[in-house]
Amino acid sequence: MIIAPSILSADFARLGDEVRRVITDGADWIHFDVMDNHYVPNLTIGPAVAQAVKKHTQRFDGSWVPLDVHLMVEPVDFIAERFAEAGADLISFHPDATRHVDRTLQVIRNAGCQVGLAFNPAEPLDVLEWVIDKLDLVLIMSVNPGFGGQSFIESSLRKIERARRLIEASGRDIRLQVDGGIKVDNIRRVADAGADTFVAGSAIFGAKDYAAVIDAMRTEIEPVRLKKAA
Ligand code: DX5
Ligand code: ZN
Repeated sequence: MIIAPSILSADFARLGDEVRRVITDGADWIHFDVMDNHYVPNLTIGPAVAQAVKKHTQRFDGSWVPLDVHLMVEPVDFIAERFAEAGADLISFHPDATRHVDRTLQVIRNAGCQVGLAFNPAEPLDVLEWVIDKLDLVLIMSVNPGFGGQSFIESSLRKIERARRLIEASGRDIRLQVDGGIKVDNIRRVADAGADTFVAGSAIFGAKDYAAVIDAMRTEIEPVRLKKAA
Protein backbone atom coordinates (compact mmCIF):
# COMPACT_ATOMS: atom_id res chain seq x y z
CA MET A 1 0.00 0.00 0.00
CA ILE A 2 1.51 3.26 -1.19
CA ILE A 3 0.63 6.73 0.06
CA ALA A 4 1.54 9.44 -2.43
CA PRO A 5 1.07 12.98 -1.10
CA SER A 6 0.22 15.43 -3.89
CA ILE A 7 2.38 18.54 -3.61
CA LEU A 8 -0.37 20.51 -5.37
CA SER A 9 -1.58 21.52 -1.90
CA ALA A 10 1.92 22.17 -0.50
CA ASP A 11 3.37 25.66 0.03
CA PHE A 12 4.92 26.30 -3.40
CA ALA A 13 7.16 29.03 -1.97
CA ARG A 14 8.83 26.40 0.24
CA LEU A 15 8.53 23.36 -1.99
CA GLY A 16 11.86 21.71 -1.16
CA ASP A 17 11.18 21.94 2.58
CA GLU A 18 7.66 20.63 2.10
CA VAL A 19 8.87 17.63 0.09
CA ARG A 20 11.56 16.76 2.64
CA ARG A 21 9.11 17.13 5.48
CA VAL A 22 6.41 14.94 3.97
CA ILE A 23 9.01 12.26 3.18
CA THR A 24 10.23 12.31 6.78
CA ASP A 25 6.58 12.10 7.81
CA GLY A 26 6.02 8.90 5.85
CA ALA A 27 5.34 9.58 2.15
CA ASP A 28 6.06 6.54 -0.06
CA TRP A 29 5.95 8.49 -3.33
CA ILE A 30 5.76 12.19 -4.25
CA HIS A 31 2.80 12.90 -6.56
CA PHE A 32 3.54 15.80 -8.93
CA ASP A 33 0.50 17.34 -10.66
CA VAL A 34 1.14 19.01 -14.02
CA MET A 35 -1.64 21.22 -15.44
CA ASP A 36 -1.57 23.24 -18.64
CA ASN A 37 -4.66 25.52 -18.68
CA HIS A 38 -5.78 23.63 -21.77
CA TYR A 39 -6.52 20.01 -20.90
CA VAL A 40 -7.58 21.27 -17.46
CA PRO A 41 -8.54 24.82 -16.42
CA ASN A 42 -5.52 25.38 -14.19
CA LEU A 43 -1.77 25.90 -14.53
CA THR A 44 0.89 24.44 -12.26
CA ILE A 45 4.48 23.31 -12.49
CA GLY A 46 6.79 22.05 -15.21
CA PRO A 47 9.99 20.05 -15.76
CA ALA A 48 12.29 22.68 -14.19
CA VAL A 49 10.37 22.41 -10.93
CA ALA A 50 10.42 18.61 -11.17
CA GLN A 51 14.19 18.71 -11.53
CA ALA A 52 14.46 20.97 -8.49
CA VAL A 53 12.10 18.81 -6.43
CA LYS A 54 13.97 15.64 -7.38
CA LYS A 55 16.98 16.82 -5.33
CA HIS A 56 14.81 16.72 -2.22
CA THR A 57 13.47 13.21 -2.69
CA GLN A 58 16.28 11.26 -1.07
CA ARG A 59 15.63 9.72 2.35
CA PHE A 60 18.13 9.88 5.21
CA ASP A 61 19.12 6.28 4.49
CA GLY A 62 20.12 7.25 0.94
CA SER A 63 17.13 5.64 -0.82
CA TRP A 64 15.08 7.67 -3.29
CA VAL A 65 11.36 8.32 -3.09
CA PRO A 66 9.76 7.80 -6.51
CA LEU A 67 8.66 10.97 -8.31
CA ASP A 68 5.17 10.18 -9.62
CA VAL A 69 4.32 12.69 -12.36
CA HIS A 70 0.64 13.06 -13.26
CA LEU A 71 0.32 14.87 -16.59
CA MET A 72 -2.93 16.74 -17.08
CA VAL A 73 -1.68 18.23 -20.35
CA GLU A 74 -2.49 17.99 -24.04
CA PRO A 75 -0.61 16.99 -26.14
CA VAL A 76 1.57 14.65 -24.08
CA ASP A 77 4.64 13.27 -25.91
CA PHE A 78 7.04 16.21 -25.99
CA ILE A 79 6.54 17.31 -22.40
CA ALA A 80 6.58 13.72 -21.11
CA GLU A 81 10.13 13.34 -22.41
CA ARG A 82 11.14 16.56 -20.66
CA PHE A 83 9.79 15.16 -17.36
CA ALA A 84 11.74 11.95 -17.91
CA GLU A 85 14.92 14.03 -18.33
CA ALA A 86 14.00 15.97 -15.18
CA GLY A 87 14.01 12.78 -13.11
CA ALA A 88 10.47 11.43 -13.16
CA ASP A 89 10.26 7.77 -12.16
CA LEU A 90 6.69 7.20 -13.29
CA ILE A 91 4.64 9.29 -15.73
CA SER A 92 0.87 9.04 -16.05
CA PHE A 93 -1.21 10.67 -18.74
CA HIS A 94 -4.86 10.77 -19.80
CA PRO A 95 -5.70 8.68 -22.91
CA ASP A 96 -8.08 11.39 -24.15
CA ALA A 97 -5.22 13.91 -24.12
CA THR A 98 -3.13 12.24 -26.81
CA ARG A 99 -3.96 11.28 -30.39
CA HIS A 100 -2.05 7.98 -30.29
CA VAL A 101 -2.18 6.35 -26.87
CA ASP A 102 0.00 3.37 -27.75
CA ARG A 103 2.71 5.62 -29.18
CA THR A 104 2.71 7.84 -26.10
CA LEU A 105 3.11 4.76 -23.91
CA GLN A 106 6.18 3.83 -25.94
CA VAL A 107 7.59 7.36 -25.79
CA ILE A 108 7.47 7.30 -21.99
CA ARG A 109 8.84 3.76 -21.73
CA ASN A 110 11.67 4.55 -24.15
CA ALA A 111 12.51 7.60 -22.06
CA GLY A 112 13.23 5.22 -19.18
CA CYS A 113 10.14 5.73 -17.00
CA GLN A 114 7.35 3.58 -15.74
CA VAL A 115 4.03 4.51 -17.26
CA GLY A 116 0.44 4.97 -16.09
CA LEU A 117 -2.89 5.74 -17.73
CA ALA A 118 -5.30 8.10 -15.94
CA PHE A 119 -9.08 7.95 -16.29
CA ASN A 120 -11.40 10.88 -15.60
CA PRO A 121 -14.65 10.19 -13.73
CA ALA A 122 -16.70 9.93 -16.95
CA GLU A 123 -13.99 8.28 -19.07
CA PRO A 124 -14.55 4.59 -19.88
CA LEU A 125 -11.81 2.01 -19.25
CA ASP A 126 -12.21 0.47 -22.73
CA VAL A 127 -8.71 1.36 -23.90
CA LEU A 128 -7.29 -0.97 -21.23
CA GLU A 129 -8.40 -3.91 -23.34
CA TRP A 130 -5.69 -2.98 -25.86
CA VAL A 131 -2.84 -1.60 -23.79
CA ILE A 132 -2.98 -3.06 -20.29
CA ASP A 133 0.09 -5.19 -21.03
CA LYS A 134 2.09 -1.98 -21.49
CA LEU A 135 1.21 -0.37 -18.15
CA ASP A 136 2.75 -0.18 -14.70
CA LEU A 137 -0.15 1.75 -13.19
CA VAL A 138 -3.82 2.53 -13.74
CA LEU A 139 -4.97 5.82 -12.20
CA ILE A 140 -8.65 6.28 -11.43
CA MET A 141 -9.57 9.94 -10.94
CA SER A 142 -12.12 10.32 -8.16
CA VAL A 143 -12.56 14.05 -8.92
CA ASN A 144 -12.49 15.98 -12.18
CA PRO A 145 -8.84 16.91 -12.67
CA GLY A 146 -7.66 20.47 -12.23
CA PHE A 147 -7.93 21.37 -8.57
CA GLY A 148 -7.11 20.09 -5.12
CA GLY A 149 -9.63 20.00 -2.33
CA GLN A 150 -12.66 18.67 -4.26
CA SER A 151 -15.11 16.06 -2.97
CA PHE A 152 -14.70 12.38 -3.75
CA ILE A 153 -17.04 11.18 -6.53
CA GLU A 154 -18.76 8.01 -5.31
CA SER A 155 -19.10 6.32 -8.72
CA SER A 156 -15.33 5.98 -8.80
CA LEU A 157 -15.63 3.13 -6.28
CA ARG A 158 -17.36 0.97 -8.91
CA LYS A 159 -14.73 1.98 -11.42
CA ILE A 160 -11.93 1.00 -9.05
CA GLU A 161 -13.59 -2.41 -8.63
CA ARG A 162 -13.80 -2.81 -12.39
CA ALA A 163 -10.18 -1.74 -12.91
CA ARG A 164 -9.10 -4.20 -10.23
CA ARG A 165 -10.86 -7.03 -12.07
CA LEU A 166 -9.14 -6.07 -15.35
CA ILE A 167 -5.74 -5.96 -13.64
CA GLU A 168 -6.33 -9.37 -12.01
CA ALA A 169 -7.41 -10.81 -15.36
CA SER A 170 -4.25 -9.49 -17.00
CA GLY A 171 -2.13 -11.39 -14.49
CA ARG A 172 0.33 -8.50 -14.47
CA ASP A 173 1.90 -6.54 -11.67
CA ILE A 174 0.07 -3.23 -12.16
CA ARG A 175 -0.62 -0.67 -9.45
CA LEU A 176 -4.13 0.73 -9.03
CA GLN A 177 -3.93 4.36 -7.96
CA VAL A 178 -6.78 6.63 -6.90
CA ASP A 179 -6.55 10.41 -6.96
CA GLY A 180 -8.95 13.05 -5.65
CA GLY A 181 -10.80 13.68 -2.41
CA ILE A 182 -9.01 10.94 -0.48
CA LYS A 183 -9.26 11.50 3.29
CA VAL A 184 -8.75 9.46 6.44
CA ASP A 185 -12.51 8.86 6.60
CA ASN A 186 -12.91 7.37 3.09
CA ILE A 187 -9.56 5.71 2.32
CA ARG A 188 -10.73 2.41 3.79
CA ARG A 189 -13.60 2.14 1.30
CA VAL A 190 -11.26 3.00 -1.55
CA ALA A 191 -8.85 0.26 -0.47
CA ASP A 192 -11.74 -2.19 -0.09
CA ALA A 193 -12.72 -1.47 -3.69
CA GLY A 194 -9.24 -2.59 -4.79
CA ALA A 195 -6.91 0.43 -4.82
CA ASP A 196 -3.35 -0.03 -3.58
CA THR A 197 -1.88 3.44 -4.24
CA PHE A 198 -3.49 6.54 -2.73
CA VAL A 199 -2.92 10.16 -3.72
CA ALA A 200 -3.84 12.73 -1.09
CA GLY A 201 -3.19 16.46 -1.39
CA SER A 202 -5.31 18.71 0.79
CA ALA A 203 -5.87 16.01 3.43
CA ILE A 204 -2.13 15.94 4.16
CA PHE A 205 -0.82 19.41 3.28
CA GLY A 206 -3.90 21.08 4.73
CA ALA A 207 -3.14 19.55 8.13
CA LYS A 208 -0.68 20.83 10.72
CA ASP A 209 0.76 17.39 11.39
CA TYR A 210 1.44 15.51 8.12
CA ALA A 211 2.69 12.40 9.94
CA ALA A 212 -0.52 12.14 11.95
CA VAL A 213 -2.64 12.11 8.78
CA ILE A 214 -0.38 9.63 6.95
CA ASP A 215 -0.31 7.34 10.01
CA ALA A 216 -4.09 7.55 10.36
CA MET A 217 -4.48 6.65 6.67
CA ARG A 218 -2.18 3.64 7.09
CA THR A 219 -4.12 2.49 10.15
CA GLU A 220 -7.34 2.66 8.12
CA ILE A 221 -6.01 0.57 5.22
CA GLU A 222 -3.90 -1.89 7.20
CA PRO A 223 -6.79 -4.39 7.69
CA VAL A 224 -7.41 -4.39 3.92
CA ARG A 225 -3.70 -5.07 3.30
CA LEU A 226 -3.71 -7.93 5.82
CA LYS A 227 -6.84 -9.43 4.27
CA LYS A 228 -5.20 -9.36 0.82
CA ALA A 229 -1.95 -10.84 2.11
CA ALA A 230 -3.80 -13.73 3.79
C1 DX5 B 1 -6.36 16.89 -9.14
C2 DX5 B 1 -4.99 16.33 -8.89
C3 DX5 B 1 -4.85 15.69 -7.57
C4 DX5 B 1 -5.02 16.65 -6.42
C5 DX5 B 1 -5.68 15.88 -5.32
O1 DX5 B 1 -6.47 17.30 -10.45
O2 DX5 B 1 -4.67 15.35 -9.87
O3 DX5 B 1 -3.63 14.98 -7.45
O4 DX5 B 1 -3.84 17.17 -5.92
O5 DX5 B 1 -5.97 16.77 -4.31
P1 DX5 B 1 -6.97 16.38 -3.12
O6 DX5 B 1 -6.36 15.21 -2.41
O7 DX5 B 1 -7.00 17.62 -2.31
O8 DX5 B 1 -8.30 16.04 -3.75
ZN1 ZN C 1 -2.90 14.00 -9.49
